[in-house]
Amino acid sequence: MNPSTTARKVGFYGHVRQYHNLKSELDAAILEVLESGQYVQGTTLKRFEGELAAYAGAKYAIGVGNGTDALWLTFMALGLGPGDELITNANTFFATAEAMWIAGCTAVLVDCDPLTKCIDPEAVRKAITPRTKAIVPVHLYGQCAPMREIRKIADEHNLFVIEDNAQAVDARGDDFRIGELSDAVCTSFIIQKNLGTFGDGGAIWTDRQDINDRVRKLRNHGSIQRDVHSYGFNSRLDDLHAGVLSVKLKHISAWSDRRIEIANMYTAGLRDCKKIDLPYVRPDYRHVFHLYVIETKDPAERGNLLDYLIQNGIDAKTHYSIPIHKQEGYPWGKEARISGSLANAEKNAASCISLPMFPELEQEEIDYVIDVVRRWDAQ
Ligand SMILES: Cc1ncc(COP(=O)(O)O)c(C=O)c1O
Repeated sequence: MNPSTTARKVGFYGHVRQYHNLKSELDAAILEVLESGQYVQGTTLKRFEGELAAYAGAKYAIGVGNGTDALWLTFMALGLGPGDELITNANTFFATAEAMWIAGCTAVLVDCDPLTKCIDPEAVRKAITPRTKAIVPVHLYGQCAPMREIRKIADEHNLFVIEDNAQAVDARGDDFRIGELSDAVCTSFIIQKNLGTFGDGGAIWTDRQDINDRVRKLRNHGSIQRDVHSYGFNSRLDDLHAGVLSVKLKHISAWSDRRIEIANMYTAGLRDCKKIDLPYVRPDYRHVFHLYVIETKDPAERGNLLDYLIQNGIDAKTHYSIPIHKQEGYPWGKEARISGSLANAEKNAASCISLPMFPELEQEEIDYVIDVVRRWDAQ
């Protein structure tokens, strides 16, 4: 197949296909909420929170407005604020650091591991000061950060660990599950996430009753009882979204399996390419491939490959082409600190390309993506 003569579209997102595949279940769930008359903090949200907690193996799950709020509400529930340093990696999505600033904390940015792109535990260790209060590892692209090493550092320095799990619902480590080695797990249900709704949504899960109780108050104007308030906000997961997510949660493991299958096909098809590096999966980890991110060995070639893919009808993207500390205006008068070299994060930003990755991709689309990348590589 010659890509230039068979230009076709391979989209980046599959949520409309997913809706069509589950249409009757999703439509019924939405109608049920509409007929219930309970749209905010109603029975559907309560049921979904129970299902999510059971699925995650956690004592509590709390639905909130989005993944960013899940993070800063958790920071606030832990009493973190001005003067407290929280460590994360510079190549995460912007919201991980943004949530630290919203809570009034100091964002400390460290480098990532050159292979997995998740936070480098040695860089975390070097970043610790007497002001450090928490580590916020991100399970980037769908692969767990090295939680055993992070837990060990946290124990040595008496730090909180809050997992940013926006990209890795259904992933696992080699000998740990998400939530097992931290104080709380925060996730996002925005449309394109592996478990996504038709808009914004987020959740926290935890075994800690104090975090559960405080977040439940904070998300609802400081109130768990009518007319009785303390300081709080409005950040709730609407029942319509909870109904949608309740349907989708039943399919998440099968979708993850399909993502892994597609990733394996990409990897087999692209293995002998000379000009790109492929994603690295740590032994025995369940990487659920929220994103399949390749890197051009030469960062100067990234733009060229991206253009080639797009010209050939493949919607590829970059996650993320500007690390947090290089964003315009950084740090906007907020408290931030860079610890050590961020060379791996910067190399990743300059060379990354995300290929289409969603469970509803069809075989000929997968084959076509492989074919186009191989043709570019052979030029
Ligand atoms: C790693 C990471 N953290 C936080 C978020 C924030 O989630 P939301 O967009 O729901 O606020 C996202 C996704 O958007 C993300 O990918």
